[in-house]
Amino acid sequence: MVSFLLAFDTGWSGHPEARVTKRTEERRMTMPTMDRGVLAPENEDRRKQLIELLKKAYWMEMETVMSYTANSVNPDGVRAQEVIEDLEEDIQEELGHAQEFAQRIKELWGTVPGSMEFEAEQSYLQPPEESTDIVHVIKGVIEAERGAIDFYNEIIDFTDGLDYVTQDMVIAILRDEEGHLRLFEGFLREFEAEGTA
Ligand SMILES: [Fe+2]
Ligand SMILES: [Fe+2]
Repeated sequence: MVSFLLAFDTGWSGHPEARVTKRTEERRMTMPTMDRGVLAPENEDRRKQLIELLKKAYWMEMETVMSYTANSVNPDGVRAQEVIEDLEEDIQEELGHAQEFAQRIKELWGTVPGSMEFEAEQSYLQPPEESTDIVHVIKGVIEAERGAIDFYNEIIDFTDGLDYVTQDMVIAILRDEEGHLRLFEGFLREFEAEGTA
């Protein structure tokens, strides 16, 4: 570290600003540009496209947090309790996903959008007319999870050969969503077996 600083100091012309300018120039000269990966200049267009995909994923997770919060409180009845407990757990996981997407947007030199950009899409997860209609909630969750699974597979395809860090992150998130889907498919199966779904 000492020798690093001395190397710069030998070229100091005397004026403090001259030293800053020289250091900046030397740093630019010694910093190689990246040729590979999503941060490489030649991949700028695809990086920007990826940021847009990540923003959409971020909003999907945020809306899911809202929908699952409402649907973990509204239902009544003995049958609803297991669903409520699982939704409560999922809310924390979905929030964690949203935070991961936000962090990755920033790492890719993007900006996490503000709430004014939010547009709701989950019409199928609105409160049912009857608060005991837990099948409505289960079907809504299945639709949300299937939508996430489709879209995350799209991001995984998009990042292939471009951004393995995002790909790795989304693969892990995809596994969580597949787990959520499987659980709620199991709930639905029970109601279908009884003929009440
Ligand atoms: Fe999620
Ligand atoms: Fe999920």
